[in-house]
Amino acid sequence: MNSDMTLTITQPDDWHLHVRDGDMLKLVVPHTAAVFKRAIIMPNLKPPITNAAMANAYKKRIVAAAGNQDFTPLMTLYLTDETTPNIISEAKEAGVIAAKLYPAGATTNSAAGVTDVKKIYQSLEAMQQLNMPLLVHGEVTGDVDVFDREAMYIDNILIPLVKNFPALKIVMEHITTQQAAEYVSQAGENIGATITPQHLLYNRNAILSGGIRPHYYCLPILKREQHRQALLALVGSDCNRVFLGTDSAPHSQHAKESDCGCAGCYSAYHAMPLYLEAFESVNALDKFEAFASFNGPDFYGLPRNTSKIQLQKKSWTLPESFGDAADPLVPLKAGETLQWQVKNSKEAK
Ligand code: DOR
Ligand code: ZN
Repeated sequence: MNSDMTLTITQPDDWHLHVRDGDMLKLVVPHTAAVFKRAIIMPNLKPPITNAAMANAYKKRIVAAAGNQDFTPLMTLYLTDETTPNIISEAKEAGVIAAKLYPAGATTNSAAGVTDVKKIYQSLEAMQQLNMPLLVHGEVTGDVDVFDREAMYIDNILIPLVKNFPALKIVMEHITTQQAAEYVSQAGENIGATITPQHLLYNRNAILSGGIRPHYYCLPILKREQHRQALLALVGSDCNRVFLGTDSAPHSQHAKESDCGCAGCYSAYHAMPLYLEAFESVNALDKFEAFASFNGPDFYGLPRNTSKIQLQKKSWTLPESFGDAADPLVPLKAGETLQWQVKNSKEAK
């Protein structure tokens, strides 16, 4: 880093992103496309993206929303009990990059998800053969304490799964616990993980400090400080299977600030400043480029980006909201001061 605190890094990618559809899609895609070259697009729409044709149609809507920004959405398939090996191979053929496993009932729009992982074993076999990564929302469902769901998923579901499919590439999405950090750091080359900015910046007090703060509510839920510290230690380590995945999950203000508020934090607009604040807090800025720009493509077997972006330490104030004044989108840290900014957004194509 030079004296005016500018950091130049390879163009980053977002390996876990929700962009929704319709007006919300048009609002949020340009935010991501202004900074990131590629993003893995989550398939939990209503109805979910369960086949190649749906993925391709959705991709076209995203590309249109990105306008002249040079941005590539990487599409995923939503696994259900009805997914077949044929659906998987068709999707692979059509350029769908991965498939997402939502345990039924685990989170937003997961009702059509998988009720028992054994029901998709044939599809997982096909994915293993086709070298198609499995992206996992790793939380058990049912009558289990919400803070224990991730750790229990690792023991009860993930470890047996890895044993049964030793060559399947698996990404543990948005990990939140010390158990997950320890698991991924000692796991084999085929196991990776994404980490969100909010899980690096906040512990569970953020949801309940001075009142209920719905904009800090996401799933998996924020955990206690010990877990946040374990995640910070992991991103500060030399583990090259951990990468940037914002899990930016836009919901309108009315949907968040309600008596049953939706899970999800909106972070796509200011993801870089958020992550940089977290990395700087543990003197790990030297690991940031690998996390944001190298480890993801290396894990997926895709080329690293060749363009660069500049990040500058210069404070600015995040808007209170975006979009429709009647029901806006409120970002994580709305109206607060951020310490870092992206100096030059990338060039148009
Ligand atoms: O907080 C979350 N929001 N977690 C998820 O797993 C889904 C996401 C969403 O789609 O809103
Ligand atoms: Zn997500």
